[in-house]
Amino acid sequence: MPKTLIEPFRIKSVEPIRMTTRAERERLLEEAHLNIFKLRAEDVLIDWLTDSGTGAMSARQWGAIMEGDESYAGARSFFRLEKVIQDITGMAHFVPTHQGRAAEKVLFTAVCRKGDLVPNNCHFDTTRGNLEYMGVEAVDVVIAEGLQPATIHPFKGNIDLDRAEALLKKEGGRIPFGMLTVTNNTGGGQPVSMANIRAYSALLKQYGKPFIMDVCRFAENAMFIKMRERGYENTPVREIAREMFSYADGATMSAKKDGMVNIGGFIVLRSDEWLDEVRNDLIMMEGFPTYGGMAGRDLEALAVGLEEGLQEDYLRYRLRTAEYLGERLEAAGVGFVKPTGGHAVYIDARTVLPDMPVQHYPAWALCNALYLEGGIRGVEIGSVMFGKRLEDGTETYHSMELVRLAFPRRMYTQSHFDYAAEVIAEVKAKAAGIRGVRITRQPRFLRHFTCECAWV
Ligand code: F0G
Repeated sequence: MPKTLIEPFRIKSVEPIRMTTRAERERLLEEAHLNIFKLRAEDVLIDWLTDSGTGAMSARQWGAIMEGDESYAGARSFFRLEKVIQDITGMAHFVPTHQGRAAEKVLFTAVCRKGDLVPNNCHFDTTRGNLEYMGVEAVDVVIAEGLQPATIHPFKGNIDLDRAEALLKKEGGRIPFGMLTVTNNTGGGQPVSMANIRAYSALLKQYGKPFIMDVCRFAENAMFIKMRERGYENTPVREIAREMFSYADGATMSAKKDGMVNIGGFIVLRSDEWLDEVRNDLIMMEGFPTYGGMAGRDLEALAVGLEEGLQEDYLRYRLRTAEYLGERLEAAGVGFVKPTGGHAVYIDARTVLPDMPVQHYPAWALCNALYLEGGIRGVEIGSVMFGKRLEDGTETYHSMELVRLAFPRRMYTQSHFDYAAEVIAEVKAKAAGIRGVRITRQPRFLRHFTCECAWV
């Protein structure tokens, strides 16, 4: 048997990408105020900013798009997708939204109140943003290993059950539900084990709290369970996913990830307790309950995408892709969150820029350097994203300085990864010349998207 794990698809439609010169990139980055979010995508050679909504749809999905029923109410496409989602999640109620953060917003508006507290392994930025915007405290209680990039642990996304229980004991009155993000994006795309999901669910039940999962990357999480957790080696991924959902009372999903579509999201709920409230908010914020912010064609593409995202050949190739880049980085002496996660590789910027003070935002600096060196766009997951400027002008910093290279699904081939590995090694070799930044303008929430920077 050949060892090479190939892309389990062939290419039917192509989109050219454009090389730029270093001088051009220097000018473009300055024009973007040293914020790669402000670059035009056509000026990026390899766009690993996010795996969200950026993947390639299959021929079957494009075919399904023609079947979209665009009726305002009661569209056939809604019922088709509802059946797929009920089957995968085992939950009765499916509420479509236009993307993940809308699902969060609708659910939180219905259920949370100012002064509440929500525990999670790690809240993603929009989840935290949505909660904090409402005056809800978002508390991360991932296991200690989840915050140590170099420590190898098969399930670094696990929630720390002791700390979660301490919160439930001390702050129980403020907690409307417990959350868990699979995979843990903020901590490196790291999976949560079935044992941890089960135990957290039992703990929440003991304290009478519902359990909401953020399931953007549930299929990747299920594949990790199959590959790493004893007892699941021979269980089909679909069944593993179904068991994961069986412990939860509801979930929010950005379908732009494991749903394999360019736009879409949803809430699922097991009971109808919150349903009226949720649907009221949905109608105000997103749309009528049978389309909720998606076109009929989007619902169709998602019905196919959810099935394709659970195919094991695809998932095996998907997880191997990240692992492969990790091996190349290891060989180049570049540190990263180990083991590699599902959708991305997270470079530990401190291993490339050990002497740069956190005040100069080393992960942001490394992000800029990757663009300048090779036209690669990653995203900073560090103190620009998760730090804050307080009212008194002082700054808080994040515990890790990471650069995430997130891989759109079914889009880049092995040679793109080989090229990127060379660029990263080159950046490491030239690290002494990499400059840090200071923030010159920033909004109040989610500042990384729109802030402006200058070289230190
Ligand atoms: N939860 C998690 C864990 C996410 O990773 C994201 C999005 C969301 C919720 C929000 O979903 O974008 O559809 O509104 N993450 C993207 C990323 C943006 O790049 O990781 P959305």
